[in-house]
Amino acid sequence: MANLNVNIDHVATVRQARLTVEPDPVWAAVECELAGAKGITMHLREDRRHIQERDVELVRKVSKIMLNLEMGMTEEMVNYALKLVPDMVTLVPEKRAELTTEGGLDCIKLEKTLKTVVAKMHKKGIEVSAFIIADPNQIAACAQAGCDAIELHTGPYANARTKKEIITRLDELETGLECGLNAGMVVHAGHGLTYRNVEPVADMTGFCDFNIGHGIISRSIFTGLRSATKEMIELIRR
Ligand code: PXP
Repeated sequence: MANLNVNIDHVATVRQARLTVEPDPVWAAVECELAGAKGITMHLREDRRHIQERDVELVRKVSKIMLNLEMGMTEEMVNYALKLVPDMVTLVPEKRAELTTEGGLDCIKLEKTLKTVVAKMHKKGIEVSAFIIADPNQIAACAQAGCDAIELHTGPYANARTKKEIITRLDELETGLECGLNAGMVVHAGHGLTYRNVEPVADMTGFCDFNIGHGIISRSIFTGLRSATKEMIELIRR
């Protein structure tokens, strides 16, 4: 049965819109925990546009559930993660101008750096996941670099508009899932998943965690975060 990690970045986005103290992502983490989420995902971006160090550090101290730190493979972020020691890091490509993480990490091109980062994280007991498109060559490069897990980018599926493209994207995810499991890695999925599109992906057997943010935080404005989180967990497990 797959689990849900709630990405709480956009709670911080609302706070940063006014550079004030609320809403507090730490409160959000507690609400997600009370709703039954397996973990909290936070992306500490280079430009600190939403999540701040203070948020990550307090969530690390207060929350009893898994902390998944999303990060770019910069020297600054690697050193930060080694000091913080989250349960897992998810390595993502990061571009300053993007609205959200766009493509997957190119683990073929970055294999050498990836290997070094994985070894450093493992020394501290931190699990490593890489956010990639569902491409067998990318999956093989992650396994080769020693990643514990991969997170398959569900954005192309979420953005597909025709029935034909949706089916193609779902097939790619299913093949990627099988490929990742056969390579001995844990397979997660995320990006662009909503209450309307999560079920066909959740129906695939083998995914471990879903990392979902924008959809849950959007709904929480109307229903509250605890209820929005519970509703997503129910959909994933139905
Ligand atoms: N997984 C990764 C690697 C991401 O970068 C993001 C967005 O921060 C998510 C999952 C969550 O995506 P969304 O906010 O669209 O649910």
